[in-house]
Amino acid sequence: MSKLKGKHLITTMDWELDDLVKVIEVAEDMQKNRYADKYTKLLAFRTFLMFFYNPSVRTRQSFEAAATELGGHAQFLEPKSMRLKTAKSAGETVEDAANVMSRYGVGLGIRILESKIAHYGDGEKLLREYAKYSKIPIISMAHDKYHPMQSLADIMGLRKHLGKNLEGKTFTLAWGKGALARSWSSVQAALLLYSRFGMNVRIARPEGYDLDPEVIEYTKKQCEKNGKEFFITDNQEEAYEGSNVVYCRNWTTPNAYHDGEFHKEEEVEKSLKHQDWICDERKMKLTNDGLFIHPMPIDRGNEVSDEVASSKRSIIYDVAENRLHVQKATMALTMSDFEG
Ligand code: CP
Repeated sequence: MSKLKGKHLITTMDWELDDLVKVIEVAEDMQKNRYADKYTKLLAFRTFLMFFYNPSVRTRQSFEAAATELGGHAQFLEPKSMRLKTAKSAGETVEDAANVMSRYGVGLGIRILESKIAHYGDGEKLLREYAKYSKIPIISMAHDKYHPMQSLADIMGLRKHLGKNLEGKTFTLAWGKGALARSWSSVQAALLLYSRFGMNVRIARPEGYDLDPEVIEYTKKQCEKNGKEFFITDNQEEAYEGSNVVYCRNWTTPNAYHDGEFHKEEEVEKSLKHQDWICDERKMKLTNDGLFIHPMPIDRGNEVSDEVASSKRSIIYDVAENRLHVQKATMALTMSDFEG
């Protein structure tokens, strides 16, 4: 039995690097041998449960496909159709819901993003509360702070295109204007994990768009430990120059949550004032034949030009596919007796 059996995945910071590498290696083999007998019965007759507080395309479809390909089944509920206790209404507690789900399934995935919480950090708190009572692994399907499955899929994509050793490759995280007011979830998960794989890290963002200081501190420390570059700038050209991979994504300011709610319209209005913050061909030409990466859905024409998103150096579809493989690997290692 894998030592990962029964483990929750809320952030990659809770896992040893070797265990994360193991997930990616298993995922790479699962991609090569997608329907091999060794994988198709691991979750036979087992159910993976999912709670989606927020909508999804890739996450829901890839988790459902993952459960099917492992021989099991995935089913979902939207909490609006459940009777959960909230600050404003009576209902079932997390303790009760987590205990009952543990009697039905082998794992529980939860997605909760900015529009469903009052303060930054509340989404992660909810997942940790489920983990406290659950007897089965709680898997983040993206919460307000992190999207661990996305970052594992990213690393799998980078290993395919840049080689298995990412040590010393340069990663530029560039802020992009956007009409969708994105959470910090995917970009923070990327910072945590790319830095652990020994990459140089550069962040380009306009003044006022700083991320969670704890995440920045963690990333900086990983870079220092690995003897790698780390800097934050408001100069896009400086951050793109000679880079191997550009991840351009919109994210909100730290003021997005106030008066007990998330202010999407205000954030979009502020964001669209920065018209030159877009990943385009001119900036990509400054890179070292850099890859373009993005978790999707992409806000084309705002975060990134069509030309870059659809270019030969864009690996967005490979990474989207990898969601399936890393999720299969994580489910096999945490929810079955698979050794890896
Ligand atoms: N990248 C990602 O999680 O996509 P969805 O929001 O469509 O699930």
